[in-house]
Amino acid sequence: MEKKDDSWIESSDVLSVFPTFVWNVQLRRENYKATNAKVIKALKEMRVSLPPLGTGEAWQSSKDLHKLGEFGDLVSHVHGTIKIVLRFLKIGYDAIEITGCWANISAKGASHRMHAHPNNFLSGVYYVQTHPEADTINFHDPRIQAAIIRPPVTELTAQNTDQVVVKVRNGTLLVFPSYLQHSVDSNRSDEERISISFNVMFSSFTENISKPLW
Ligand SMILES: [Fe+2]
Repeated sequence: MEKKDDSWIESSDVLSVFPTFVWNVQLRRENYKATNAKVIKALKEMRVSLPPLGTGEAWQSSKDLHKLGEFGDLVSHVHGTIKIVLRFLKIGYDAIEITGCWANISAKGASHRMHAHPNNFLSGVYYVQTHPEADTINFHDPRIQAAIIRPPVTELTAQNTDQVVVKVRNGTLLVFPSYLQHSVDSNRSDEERISISFNVMFSSFTENISKPLW
């Protein structure tokens, strides 16, 4: 490597333009213990007549868990977090609703391919039961043009990577833009991994928000 001479530069800054956020909330232990116990009990009842999951298999519940009383604690944590995110984004409209909420149970060897959640503004995942080797989610670069040229790098950094791996644990609640593609690696533990996914959209979007901006 050439010895660098920066003496000709007065100042130099890297501007972070159009950053993509993943909101990462960790619930207090006493809080998630109670929430998770209720969720696990409700899911067990839903699956009572189903066979246990085999290696590589996953199960998804119906998409309306947010309407069930047993998920009330979780729903209020989601609403509380969304409120914080909307405030951070300086969005002057806070009438939102959960449009879908469902459980994912993944046995050893089960993974989830890359996908996004169209027709929503925010999406998220809450982690009920994670294990070492089953405690990450991958987020993929939303700037598809950036994949055209990928020179080799000496070290992966936030500026040159096309994938960010976020580590999660029981009681972690993530919120991200619904357009952000994500995937889950194969469960490499022997235990089932349980998470609850949800989507959020502005209420009465057409009436209140989708007016032309020009
Ligand atoms: Fe997802």
